Amino acid sequence: MTVRFAPSLLSADFARLAAEIADVEAAGADLLHLDLMDGHFVPNLTFGPPVVAALAEVASIPLDAHLMVADPDALVPALAAAGVARTAVHVETCPHLDRSLAAIRDAGMEAGVAVYTATSLALLDEVLDDLDFVLIMSVNPGFGGQAFIPSSLSKIRRLRTALGDRKIDISVDGGVDATTTAGLVAAGATTLVAGSAVFGRPDRAGALEALRRAARQGNDP
Ligand code: DX5
Ligand code: ZN
Repeated sequence: MTVRFAPSLLSADFARLAAEIADVEAAGADLLHLDLMDGHFVPNLTFGPPVVAALAEVASIPLDAHLMVADPDALVPALAAAGVARTAVHVETCPHLDRSLAAIRDAGMEAGVAVYTATSLALLDEVLDDLDFVLIMSVNPGFGGQAFIPSSLSKIRRLRTALGDRKIDISVDGGVDATTTAGLVAAGATTLVAGSAVFGRPDRAGALEALRRAARQGNDP
């Protein structure tokens, strides 16, 4: 299984965003992960659609939006207009999850559901045919550089089984590095979000190569 890597801009130098994006693109990143936080649903505040639109002007790899906001539905039209390729809403913020996912797809983006560490996968049972990817959180959302939560591995395995033959991507976000990647891939992850393990390193090409090497071990233990 080919594994894609999505560096998370949260760990980039915010004073040099265009240069930072160019750097990870040259290093071979597959997607660019964007964490939108509102200081309410999570205890941190980042950026919103106007900044995403500016980033879209300079990025050439697909943009992967992760909405850690209390009202994600309100952001969907602007993100689609900016050219975002895929958007994940948190199940914990969506009382009408099916409607939220349909709105993302209707706007022309791939639709994903993000799941907190302590949130049950059972909440996805009724929407498995309405989504393109699941974003499993393997840290408590809000900040980069936190330690990976090991119970995430069994959650990924259970999700892979529940998905059956469906062509649904399992993305994992939080604590992804060269030591956790092989286990995540072996468990069934197909996209890995990595902030501090890529943007936090001076040599981004070397960092991504180390992650790809670890992913190959996970595919072929
Ligand atoms: C955390 C964010 C992540 C964050 C991951 O709430 O959703 O995308 O950037 O950072 P690392 O890879 O450093 O754990
Ligand atoms: Zn994220």
